[in-house]
Amino acid sequence: MVQRRDERLESGNGGRPVAFITGASSGFGLLIALELARKGYRVIAAMRDISNSGLLTLRAREGGLEGLIECLTLDVTDRQAIQDAANYVIGTYERVDVLVNNAGMAIGGCIEEIPMDDWEKQMEVNFFGVVAMTRAFLPLMREQRHGKIIMISSISGRMGFPGYGPYAASKFAVEGFSESLRLEMLPFGVHVVLVEPGAYRTDIWSKGFRHMDSRQSERSPYSRFLAAVLRYSHHTAQNADDPQDVARAVGRIVLSQYPRLRYPLGKGAALTILGKTMLPWKWFERILLRELEKEAGRTEP
Ligand SMILES: NC(=O)c1ccc[n+]([C@@H]2O[C@H](COP(=O)([O-])OP(=O)(O)OC[C@H]3O[C@@H](n4cnc5c(N)ncnc54)[C@H](OP(=O)(O)O)[C@@H]3O)[C@@H](O)[C@H]2O)c1
Repeated sequence: MVQRRDERLESGNGGRPVAFITGASSGFGLLIALELARKGYRVIAAMRDISNSGLLTLRAREGGLEGLIECLTLDVTDRQAIQDAANYVIGTYERVDVLVNNAGMAIGGCIEEIPMDDWEKQMEVNFFGVVAMTRAFLPLMREQRHGKIIMISSISGRMGFPGYGPYAASKFAVEGFSESLRLEMLPFGVHVVLVEPGAYRTDIWSKGFRHMDSRQSERSPYSRFLAAVLRYSHHTAQNADDPQDVARAVGRIVLSQYPRLRYPLGKGAALTILGKTMLPWKWFERILLRELEKEAGRTEP
């Protein structure tokens, strides 16, 4: 059942392009919703819990955009809700120009110690959620012979950092899926794009740290290593880039006639990809592990 909240939604759509964004209650999703509304899109801002729509609604009102943004309840792990949301958009607007698969979460820890239920949860949200959302809108985009499907992937979709195995696996899956989908959909005029942010200041870090902290145990053979990963991650989070940059980039991508497949964003992403491409893997892993060893030294009492 689709729950809607937009008292001031105008009837009809006045020919505006339509964008659908998942995970729009916070972080990139919220900022992308505002950015696309500023670009003249009718934005369907989907979120797991509509009672968290307050900040987006406030920012939309401050920017004079409230008539352009409609909030929907949608958990990307709920297949029926996804189909209902797609039917609603198709029935109401008869078009969808942009789908932004943004909703995501990060499960951390060392691979041996992460229970299978957590692996499944990670893949269910970050990967199967993306597949289900995309499939729900593909028939319409194929028939209308245009559209952009933007995946908010990550630098973790290009490089598997230690302590983030489930997250990296989910984003690598999104990357492979998107390469196949791009080639299947280009003949229909639909562009699939991977946005690959490095570290940006959003809530995903604190949510992930809470999860990792709960895994810390002195009896674990990984405790020293995980403490170093956590410390390194805290440092990265503190120096992370402004998430508005990602929203701006998405704003440019939706207006581009022929967007590229990949957009790595942020200072860390470019450097990591360059390092992984140019250096022999043995050197690369030595540099990474040496950095973590330095952090482990600093965490020692
Ligand atoms: N921030 C970074 O440094 C960074 C870097 C690379 C990639 N990314 C990616 O960027 C995307 C957005 O994350 P963010 O950084 O903006 O963090 P965020 O503020 O935590 O946003 C994540 C959003 O996804 C939603 N979400 C989580 N599980 C969901 C579900 N089952 N169904 C629907 N929505 C769900 C969250 O809703 P709730 O609040 O209800 O949980 C939240 O609105 C993610 O895909 C993430 O992997 C982030």
